[in-house]
Amino acid sequence: MMLYVDLLMALSRSIDLVDPYIGSHNKRVAYISGRLAHSLGLQSSDITKIVVAAALHDIGVLKESEYKELIDLRYKGGIDYHSIVGYRLLDTCEITKGIAPIIKFHHVYYSDKNNYNEVEIPLASEIIHLADRVDVSINYKQDLLSQKNSICSMIQEHSGEQFNPEIVKCFLSLAEQESFWFDLQFNKVEKKIKYYIFYNAPLTLEQIHSIAMLFTKIIDFRSRFTATHSSSVARISRELGRLCNMSERECNMLDIAGHMHDLGKLAIPLSILEKPDKLTPDEWRIMKQHTYFTYQLIDEIESPLFKVINEWASFHHESINGKGYPFKISGNMLTIGSKILAVADMFTALAESRPYRTALNDDEIISILQNAKDSALDGKVVDTLLCNYDYLKQIRTESFCNSLKDFSLLFDNI
Ligand SMILES: [Fe+2]
Ligand SMILES: [Fe+2]
Ligand SMILES: [Fe+2]
Repeated sequence: MMLYVDLLMALSRSIDLVDPYIGSHNKRVAYISGRLAHSLGLQSSDITKIVVAAALHDIGVLKESEYKELIDLRYKGGIDYHSIVGYRLLDTCEITKGIAPIIKFHHVYYSDKNNYNEVEIPLASEIIHLADRVDVSINYKQDLLSQKNSICSMIQEHSGEQFNPEIVKCFLSLAEQESFWFDLQFNKVEKKIKYYIFYNAPLTLEQIHSIAMLFTKIIDFRSRFTATHSSSVARISRELGRLCNMSERECNMLDIAGHMHDLGKLAIPLSILEKPDKLTPDEWRIMKQHTYFTYQLIDEIESPLFKVINEWASFHHESINGKGYPFKISGNMLTIGSKILAVADMFTALAESRPYRTALNDDEIISILQNAKDSALDGKVVDTLLCNYDYLKQIRTESFCNSLKDFSLLFDNI
């Protein structure tokens, strides 16, 4: 049984990969927010909602460079770019719709709260704002307890102007506990967050799929070159599954695996993903890490369903002849789902433009797939694709157009 908070926490771990310098920022802000919400005496359902929102609060930061200006304590963003992108992203999914408005206002100053046309700034946004500024003020390379006084003074100094005084008071009393700082310093937050999750609910396969589409957006929309990739791989995988007589449930799982197969690309710098040239051997080694990270991220989701989805998603660069990466699994050990993902991924990638080449034409795609038969790709799955080439090409084009629409809906008029 997949629980919704567990899957959203996996999403949080994934967005924390975008900037290695800021580390587990979203997770730590979730922990601080949970403690504040609890100390403020809020209802357990509200505490859960705040922790989940905080764990995803910077989901709108899709590029590592965007973090640079956000790490100043006095950053005055208001409803800024990443807050709107985060709001729009979460608003597209039924499960996360309720927390979207919290994200929209998480950089609004307390003294500006009446400037937003009668819209009341949620208390949750104010809590996350303070938790977020505390986290960016900490130097994690030094002892945390020694920073307590200076951080408390800075927060207190801006009480009533930047921060809600009631939350400041609550933070100052929380900061008296050495354990609060030790939890952050010794990376105990993941476990401690669980104390503030009072409500969790099972997800249907359809709901998991809608969250998988959120994963896709944060993976693909980092770069316009990949903006349509995972959604197309998902659609093609589902169709190939159907053509290979897999069950409806398995086809849904293939779709989810397609959405998540390049999750590990979040850990790959954009300078490599968008390089308009061939990768150097060093860059290629880094690129090869992406399926390894996909595997590790999905592996942390405790669910038998995701154990299967993980194999299908993470083995998409393994080869029938055992020469793929990163696990060097050979054909007889690869399941049909993994083989389908590999074919769908290659077919989709060849039909898309890349920074270093334009999209290939049908003859070129067919010839590359033919040549990869029984060496890199499973022969039967390739044959299934080639026998249905025009139909699958049409599916890919449809998916491509839909993703481009989603891409502009997300970023237009900010
Ligand atoms: Fe933020
Ligand atoms: Fe943040
Ligand atoms: Fe990949």
